Amino acid sequence: MALVTSTEMFKKAYAGGYAVGAFNVNNMEIVQGITEAAREEKAPLILQVSKGARAYANHTYLVKLVEAAVIECPEIPIVLHLDHGPDFETCKSCIDGGFTSVMIDGSSHSFEDNIALTRKVVEYAHAHGVVVEGELGTLAGVEDDVKVSAEDSSYTRPEEVEEFVEKTGVDSLAIAIGTSHGAYKFTPAQCTRNEKGILVPPPLRFDILEEISRRLPGFPIVLHGSSSVPQDFVKMINENGGKMPDAVGIPEEQLRKAAEMSVCKINIDSDLRLAMTGTVRQFFAEHPDKFDPREYLKPARANIKEMVRHKIVDVLGCNGKA
Ligand code: G3H
Ligand code: 13P
Ligand code: ZN
Repeated sequence: MALVTSTEMFKKAYAGGYAVGAFNVNNMEIVQGITEAAREEKAPLILQVSKGARAYANHTYLVKLVEAAVIECPEIPIVLHLDHGPDFETCKSCIDGGFTSVMIDGSSHSFEDNIALTRKVVEYAHAHGVVVEGELGTLAGVEDDVKVSAEDSSYTRPEEVEEFVEKTGVDSLAIAIGTSHGAYKFTPAQCTRNEKGILVPPPLRFDILEEISRRLPGFPIVLHGSSSVPQDFVKMINENGGKMPDAVGIPEEQLRKAAEMSVCKINIDSDLRLAMTGTVRQFFAEHPDKFDPREYLKPARANIKEMVRHKIVDVLGCNGKA
């Protein structure tokens, strides 16, 4: 199967009450870990590349790695998506350079400017057979070099979504309902403790999601900032010389609930990074004499694979849907 757009994927996901995982890729081992899990679980897949990934690994290397995954996994549909496209030029470069989907992130602009920018990207993308994700609302957390504090974040306003979708022609919409970018969400100070003394983050605003879905029936919604910050990997990092602060990610059962609703794409990046870093740190703690990258990247790739398998089966529900 060649690279595909997300159009059919999202139609099936919406109707089937599951979501497709959108995983960020930055190097070969991450691409391999994700795609091996998706292939074994027969899951549709979105591989996404940020501006920072293009700066780190180079556009051509990343496109060719994803094309290699398409050849190795002919049974599953794969989308190559630009994550958080910051401007028209970056989106155009990815559309011209083999991507099948782009996000234009106009969420830091005014509503009117976001519409104008998104419309411009949609016109160019659709003329080239590429689909577009837009964003309304602002997530807290760190993405690329932009850090948004919890106070400066803002939920998506449901009363704006129909006008935005109609005027821009976007194919999917990322919304802010309380998820947050990065591995430092949420601090103990932002959480409450349940009756067992366990830290619980502020719940996602399902009321906003429901209202948006009511206004946009059948329209695919996207959740960014959906890593759950697995505590076993945080522990693995901290027991092997790291210093990750206490943080509680998005509870997986809340993501599962969102996937059963109108959310068709769930973005996960930080959890991949935690798996890779924890594994590499543990490897070096146990084998201080080793220096072959193949030896420490192999278990890191294997742990990414198992983590992605868990997301596909237990969180997204997209196993067997390829
Ligand atoms: O939401 C942002 C993604 O996690 C990408 O992160 O810009 O560090 O590649 P990055
Ligand atoms: P996390 O930082 O929660 O993994 O979010 C990733 C993301 O939204 C990529 O766009
Ligand atoms: Zn994001």
